[in-house]
Order: sequence, then structure tokens, then C-alpha cells
Amino acid sequence: MKKIIIGAAIAALMATGFAYAAGHGDAINQRKAAMKEVGGAMGAMGKMAKGEMDFDAAVVLASLEKMNNVAKTFGDHFPAGSETGMDSEGKETTAAPKIWEDMGGFKAAISKFEGDTAAAMATAPQSVAELGPVLGAVGANCKACHETFRVKK
Ligand code: HEC
Repeated sequence: MKKIIIGAAIAALMATGFAYAAGHGDAINQRKAAMKEVGGAMGAMGKMAKGEMDFDAAVVLASLEKMNNVAKTFGDHFPAGSETGMDSEGKETTAAPKIWEDMGGFKAAISKFEGDTAAAMATAPQSVAELGPVLGAVGANCKACHETFRVKK
């Protein structure tokens, strides 16, 4: 009987241990996937701005909305313990230690991104000329946050 209880306790501990480890890998996967979406959305709008892709107001709006949605949950993907590690493709996280040193500042940067993308959605650009300043305002967030909260690897 004792053996079974101890065995069960060990199994339970191991299960939590695995869930813990997987949780961190998941967090890195989720935040990288989220940022890839943001990068793709930015890329499409950038191509329109440069005339490499036909302007499409619906795609612009969908791209801004995608970024706004990412901003809403991005802060959830940085649990303690996920400072280092790799995604499922073996790519190391480029999240900077600064995130965990200044979680308030990081969350504020995410809120700003959420606010600026919402404002951009509200303007709903209808031409390349209108898209330019919107991209400028949204794009400033990428640079500002990456400079402070991301490391080059
Ligand atoms: C509030 C902070 C913040 C904002 C705003 C932000 N990023 Fe990021 N971004 C990050 C962090 C942190 C990482 C590193 C994630 C990791 O490697 O764990 C990252 C990583 C990335 C990556 C690499 C993803 C990968 O596959 O490793 C791309 C691409 C990217 N960001 C694009 C953008 C673009 C484009 C914008 C603006 C439209 C943007 N980001 C705005 C914080 C931000």
C-alpha cells in the first residue's frame, strides 16, 4: 500500500515537473508565433506602402486587427522561468532579461502597442497615402520594444 502511495506521489510530481517544463517551452513557442504573426502583418502593409503589393484596405484592417489581438495576450507568454530556453524548432528565445526585471515597463509597452494598433484600426486607412503615417505610428512600437526588451542573438 505504502509503495503504491509513494509511487503515485512520484508520478504526480513527475507529471507536474513535465507540465512545468512544457509550459515554458509553450510560452516561448506562443510568443514567437505571436510575433511571427505581427511580423507577417507588418510585412504585408510594408509591401503595400512600398508599392510592391496592391493596396487593399481590408487586408490593412485585418493586419492591424491581428496585431491588436496579439497585443491583448502577449504579456501572458512570459512566465517566470521562461527567461531562457528554446522553441520547438530549437531556436533560442531572444526575450531580454530586462522583461523580468521591469515587468511593469514591459506591460506598459504592450499596452501602448495595443492602444496604437486600436487607434490605427479606427483610422482605417483607405489609401497608400493614409497608410504611411499609420505604419509609422505602429512601427515605432516594434523598434522601441525590441531595443529595450529583446536581445540580438
Ligand atoms: C511590447 C514589446 C514588443 C512589441 C511592441 C513588438 N515586439 Fe516583436 N518581439 C518582442 C519580444 C520580447 C520578442 C522575442 C520573443 C522570443 O524570442 O521569445 C520579439 C520577437 C519578434 C520577432 C521574432 C519572432 C521569432 O520567430 O523569434 C519578430 C519577427 C517581431 N518580434 C516582429 C515585431 C514587429 C514587426 C513589431 C511591430 C509591428 C513588433 N515585433 C512589436 C517584443 C515586442
